[in-house]
Amino acid sequence: MPTLFDPIQYGALSAPNRVVMAPLTRARATRAHVPTPIMADYYRQRAGAGLIISEGVGVSQQGMGWPHAAGLWNEEQVEGWRGVTDAVHQAGGRILAQLWHMGRLVHSSVTGEQPVGPSALTAPGHAHSYDGNKPYEQPRALGLDELPGIAATFAQAARNAIAAGFDGVQIHGANGYLIDEFLRDGANHRTDAYGGSPENRVRLLREVTQAVAGAVGAGRTALRLSLNGASQGTDDSDPASLSLAVAQALEPIGIAFLELRELKPGGTRGASDVPRQSPLIRQHFSGKLVLNSDYDAQSAQADLASGLADGISFGRPFIGNPDLVDRLRTGAPLNPARADLFYTQGAEGYTDYPAVQAAA
Ligand SMILES: Cc1cc2nc3c(=O)[nH]c(=O)nc-3n(C[C@H](O)[C@H](O)[C@H](O)COP(=O)(O)O)c2cc1C
Repeated sequence: MPTLFDPIQYGALSAPNRVVMAPLTRARATRAHVPTPIMADYYRQRAGAGLIISEGVGVSQQGMGWPHAAGLWNEEQVEGWRGVTDAVHQAGGRILAQLWHMGRLVHSSVTGEQPVGPSALTAPGHAHSYDGNKPYEQPRALGLDELPGIAATFAQAARNAIAAGFDGVQIHGANGYLIDEFLRDGANHRTDAYGGSPENRVRLLREVTQAVAGAVGAGRTALRLSLNGASQGTDDSDPASLSLAVAQALEPIGIAFLELRELKPGGTRGASDVPRQSPLIRQHFSGKLVLNSDYDAQSAQADLASGLADGISFGRPFIGNPDLVDRLRTGAPLNPARADLFYTQGAEGYTDYPAVQAAA
């Protein structure tokens, strides 16, 4: 029976344990979306994770609407990330870049252009901007002729990630951003080959995944999806049919792993009564599966032991606990993560959480 602390091979990636650091946007980059030295400190502190998945990293100016988040579309950004990947590697860790196009969930004051999505449907709620939160704007529906460019943009960002020293990439297909908007019929009302049936709505995901795998190797390509429950205004009327189509599309590509962010009924950062899709995915997808949301050591161990998951990713616990793997192993208490400092700039609430050894 595998434990959280057993090694595992995800495609071309060898991890010394099954604890994954989930992607966490922390907004410590510059306004030009360039990583800063403090980000190297933060990730170095967390190098005990079996794998680190970076915060969402913009694949293009069009797709990057989070103030002070980092990108991977120009040379300055690649150079900035090299400082981070070097720090993680020197500390013995491994890190993937999470490739992010925010779709309709951006504000034009950050990106400089109207948001884009599968359809001209405005998301409910507010976008982040440098001047506080602003109501989401109506997106422009991407033209059929623009979609090959989206896949190519992800592929180029993946090449840039490898040039910056990342060990691989994770495509961000979750949480109501561009790829998720195409997947789910609440946000995708297209009538062309990219809308309608689940097979059509999965098309962009498949093309992006194939393009990225072609650019950097399927064994270094991972994917994150959130298939149960609404995410930032994006939802689906039939999650099981969509999950089946997703599994069937991914199966032949041979990615390193699929990570599912699954909402649970009592979830503390998003909750849903829609059943989680991992059991169904597991039946139709033979690749490695990493599960997320609201895990502790016990529930993580239970999902590994039952064979539902190959690895478990932790988000907020890694914010408050740079040495999370040691704490899970020894049962040491966890520091709470300070939500008021999630997206502030600077070291407070970022690199100042103590490790057990330092605290002692
Ligand atoms: C501050 C913060 C930033 C996040 N940023 C991202 C992100 O960039 N990409 C992503 O896929 N999920 C992001 N998430 C979601 C987390 O990866 C994770 O799914 C969520 O925190 C639930 O897992 P947990 O219960 O272990 O914290 C973020 C969550 C938090 C709290």
